[in-house]
Amino acid sequence: MVAAGNGLFFPIIGFASCVAFIYMSFGGLNVSYPKEPEMGFVTRNGTHFMLDGKALYVNGWNSYWLMDHAVHDYSRARVGAMLQAGAKMGLTVCRTWAFNDGGYNSLQISPGQFDERVFKALDHVIVEARKNGVRLLLSLVNNLQAYGGKTQYVNWAWEEGIGISSSNDSFFFDPSIHKYFKHYVKTVLTRKNTITGVEYRNDPTIFAWELINEPRCMSDPSGDTLQDWIDEMSAFVKSIDKKHLVTVGLEGFYGPKSPKRLTVNPEMWASALGSDFIRNSNNDNIDFASVHIYPDHWFHDLEFEDDLKFVTKWMLSHIEDGDKELNKPVFFTEYGLSNLIKGFEPSLRDKLYKTILDIVYKSAKRKRSGAGALIWQLFVEGMEEYNDDFGIVPWERTSTYKLLTEQSCRLGRIS
Ligand SMILES: *[C@@H]1O[C@H](CO)[C@@H](O)[C@H](O)[C@H]1NC(C)=O
Ligand SMILES: *[C@@H]1O[C@H](CO)[C@@H](O)[C@H](O)[C@H]1NC(C)=O
Repeated sequence: MVAAGNGLFFPIIGFASCVAFIYMSFGGLNVSYPKEPEMGFVTRNGTHFMLDGKALYVNGWNSYWLMDHAVHDYSRARVGAMLQAGAKMGLTVCRTWAFNDGGYNSLQISPGQFDERVFKALDHVIVEARKNGVRLLLSLVNNLQAYGGKTQYVNWAWEEGIGISSSNDSFFFDPSIHKYFKHYVKTVLTRKNTITGVEYRNDPTIFAWELINEPRCMSDPSGDTLQDWIDEMSAFVKSIDKKHLVTVGLEGFYGPKSPKRLTVNPEMWASALGSDFIRNSNNDNIDFASVHIYPDHWFHDLEFEDDLKFVTKWMLSHIEDGDKELNKPVFFTEYGLSNLIKGFEPSLRDKLYKTILDIVYKSAKRKRSGAGALIWQLFVEGMEEYNDDFGIVPWERTSTYKLLTEQSCRLGRIS
């Protein structure tokens, strides 16, 4: 970790040297030590992530594209470049897709059929992360259609004539689709990395498994259908892998089982999505809660200052749930601001990011459940076509680079 054994070091020498220290400890590691250092599993105790007997607070990022770009020679170097750059900013966790169902460069070509080329690409991503001292939060399927998602599973079952409904929510309740998904999960968790020989389930480079990115099951607003799926799939993951933490991948909206919290939701629609932050996270096989932060997507016409007020309320509410209702860490696994909003300028992003990072820092300082945050999203030069309206190349924006690095330093001081 950034601050291991250096608790006194940072406050005295200040920010500039912390940056230099991060640079040496991560960037220089491969050069100085040909053998990689021992890496422990991240665990949890109550509301805290734990690593090597100490609480761990995470500053990290999203780069969903790592496996995809590791498939071909011409783009593979971007993976190492991104992970090394993240490490140089002191970022310790990267969230990325461990799925690609049915499309171009798909890992799962059709149910139970895997492309070994793409699996090797994922092997490579894990090795590069390890080399740079970064851990991976690996997501197992998408609720959205990008990279296949639940809709692809539904189409597969429908095409084979075994699907019981063509609704994309049948992903959550169709027994034949449950079988497809479990087979996929088992194949990934027991995958033996062709470079290291280590099965994924035994690899401490993996920070945790995320069941599904941003689940919504609008066909059942009571929330029972999604809850049953979470119960079944989290137990299934734990039956194969007891070493890694598991999270759901929620956006964090409150549902009908949390009536006291409904006023924290952005707008009325958010309580009718079939998800429910407290109920969904309150299962023994779910080790930590996940929350996303997209004020500009969730409100139609809100002034930016009101976005910031919402974000503060949203985060504090979830942190309180982590402490009082769940006794689990609360991990803000995506936050971002679209550049398509009216009057956008990059400095607005810095303001939003700072608000979020300050809340995580204060929570950590008070030993509360706010356990970290991951920016959506970072990428490297030369791949602009993979950007969405949120992505940045951090070293092209000095102020953002500094903000992120500073957060790594101050969280490192607490750990
Ligand atoms: C977990 O936390 C509790 C309460 O803070 C503490 O008493 C206990 O020693 C911790 N356990 C480990 C393994 O760190
Ligand atoms: C699922 O189906 C509904 C209803 O047809 C549609 O509105 C929605 O966009 C679909 N979602 C996904 C992720 O495919």
